[in-house]
Amino acid sequence: MSKGVGKFTLAAVFIILFAALCGRSNGDGLQVGFYRGKCRFTDVETAVAAVISASYRRDPTITAALLRMQFHDCFVNGCDASILLDGSNSEKTAIPNLSVRGYEIIESAKRVLEKICAGVVSCADIIVMATRDAVSMSGGGRYTVQTGRKDGTVSLASNVDLPPPSVSVSDSIKAFAAKGLNADDMVYLIGGHTVGVAHCSLFMDRLYNFNNTGKPDPTMNATLLATLRARCPQNVTVDNTANLDQNPLSSLTVDNSYFKQILMRRGVLQIDQELALDPLSSPTVNTIAKGSGFSAGFAQAMMKLGVVQVLTGKQGEIRRVCNATLSS
Ligand code: HEM
Repeated sequence: MSKGVGKFTLAAVFIILFAALCGRSNGDGLQVGFYRGKCRFTDVETAVAAVISASYRRDPTITAALLRMQFHDCFVNGCDASILLDGSNSEKTAIPNLSVRGYEIIESAKRVLEKICAGVVSCADIIVMATRDAVSMSGGGRYTVQTGRKDGTVSLASNVDLPPPSVSVSDSIKAFAAKGLNADDMVYLIGGHTVGVAHCSLFMDRLYNFNNTGKPDPTMNATLLATLRARCPQNVTVDNTANLDQNPLSSLTVDNSYFKQILMRRGVLQIDQELALDPLSSPTVNTIAKGSGFSAGFAQAMMKLGVVQVLTGKQGEIRRVCNATLSS
């Protein structure tokens, strides 16, 4: 090798190393634009966005479905699409996941991608990209997501340890901290309740028999109490739903109106109301309700949620069918 070529090679190695160090990989092997150039002539993020946009036009409530799905996926075993796996004892079968919706949206994006570039795009990445797209279609602002996650192969109902609706703010802070998310991240993320619904059974105690007092939760606004009692009568077999964001003009929009509602004591779940009342979270709730920073803060918290305990590189697999059935 001539001296000149040797110098050139050395320079090239430095440039590549420098580029790798300056790249947007977060050290977990994730990268913005991981799939660029990996799916023939198709841009993977554009293909996912097309599926989500079509689903959203049919049903704008998919944003709520996908937000909750991403939370329930990332909080249990990390963002590895383990929530999607079928099986007699998989995560899907755990009680908090029985009302998770939107599995078919992820499947349809996966089917499109498998036709173009089989075995390339993980289901875990599809959940994160799809949620990002739906949030932006619902007015929540668009954020960048890193990709390169692999899919997990373990999915057990017994691993599902999600906080219940009656969780205290301090216990919830602990649960989020265990996932590397701080108290502010938690407040912004629970702001996901700016869209979607809750079943009466999950807040019935607040309406009729709070803490076994035989009385309603004294922190609930009286008008809301009357509205929710009408929606959720006692001794009926149907389990109705109520919007988590009680501003009817904003129940499909990802904005800060949920925070304004909880400041007016119009939170539906116990944790919703507690966020506004507990001194551990109320300053952040006030800032979000009164300011214009919700979209940016929510986006940042969603990006952090999306990198919880991810599998990358040689870990995990690229599942070919997102809901593939576990053998055991
Ligand atoms: C302490 C934390 C949390 C608790 C206790 C909690 C609890 C709940 C409960 C009980 C429901 C109603 C489920 C049903 O009726 O079947 C619900 C719905 C929902 N949650 Fe959460 N949640 C929490 C955090 C989050 C986070 C971090 C997100 C998203 C980033 C989120 C997004 C949603 C959405 C969008 C819905 C409505 C789903 C739909 O309409 O299908 N939640 N949550």
